Amino acid sequence: MLKEIDNHLSDIKKISIKSLDELEQFRIKFFSKKGIIPSLFAKLKDIDVDKRKKFGAKINDLKIKIGEIIDKSKDELSVVSNNKNVVDYTLPADFLKLGSRHPISIVKNKIIDIFSKIGFNISEGPEIEDDWHNFTALNLPEYHPARDMQDTFYVSKNPDYLLRTHTSSVQIRHMENNEPPIRTISPGRVYRNEDISARSHCFFHQIEGLYIDKNVSFVDLKQTLLHFTEQLFGKSKIRLRPSYFPFTEPSAELDIYWGLNSEADHRITKGTGWLEILGCGMVDPNVLENCKIDPNKFSGYAFGMGIERITMLLYQIEDIRTFYENDIRFLQQFKSSI
Ligand code: DAH
Repeated sequence: MLKEIDNHLSDIKKISIKSLDELEQFRIKFFSKKGIIPSLFAKLKDIDVDKRKKFGAKINDLKIKIGEIIDKSKDELSVVSNNKNVVDYTLPADFLKLGSRHPISIVKNKIIDIFSKIGFNISEGPEIEDDWHNFTALNLPEYHPARDMQDTFYVSKNPDYLLRTHTSSVQIRHMENNEPPIRTISPGRVYRNEDISARSHCFFHQIEGLYIDKNVSFVDLKQTLLHFTEQLFGKSKIRLRPSYFPFTEPSAELDIYWGLNSEADHRITKGTGWLEILGCGMVDPNVLENCKIDPNKFSGYAFGMGIERITMLLYQIEDIRTFYENDIRFLQQFKSSI
């Protein structure tokens, strides 16, 4: 019987258990009711009393070693099977979802491209502005009625900080920090305290343009805007309608001839065929002076446009709110426009 136990002890040293099934067979072989360990203990009673102790200790030793092998194998096999659950190389790969650029960004980039190619750089300014850059330096002193043209969100009063109502504030910052010649466009987000509807929102995006040099005239403005409308809309019939902005003199609004080919054209142009695109004009000498640029030496033009409005025209989007809802079904339609 001692020999039998020794044989088992040397057998289990060599054992390697490769699956949970094998482990269960191993456990049954030694520990089940009729397994090796219980049957060895059963044989003890036939052994002489004086040798029983020694035999019992030997069987216990075998029992403990087998228990250890079972525990160790269980741990190792469960790590392997857990890992299998995490990385199963036989499964099909996860579908990689590609995002798409937001239509506002697409159109903003198109406009930037057009102006970069004719020598404009890009400038940016803060969205929280002071009164000077948003109003006063733009020839809108306190109590100027034109301040009411843009309902303002104030962040603080006295000193006045506000959410900029237009990107014209970046004109001022750029002129304060740069010498002419200046050719810059300033894209950015602007805020107005307006009711939210299909046509207006409390924030939107604008692009501002500014050109300051010697002998800049209205002709330069008109020619640049014609180039822009040809590039962006493919339309070359434009008109400059007299208008008013405190920071430009003279001021104008640029209309493009959209055409009257479809029922939609009639609707969006209110039956005229013309569409208003942006505001512009020659920079008011007061504004140049506010930025320490001599109006007797330099002149310039400026323009500003809403990116949402242009995007709505280009893609025939009816409701401005769809830009901000992040509905993936809407956004994915612009995948091919990048
Ligand atoms: N800042 C004007 C607005 O928000 C747009 C504008 C009009 C900008 C004329 C200009 C300009 O630079 O010359 O409505």
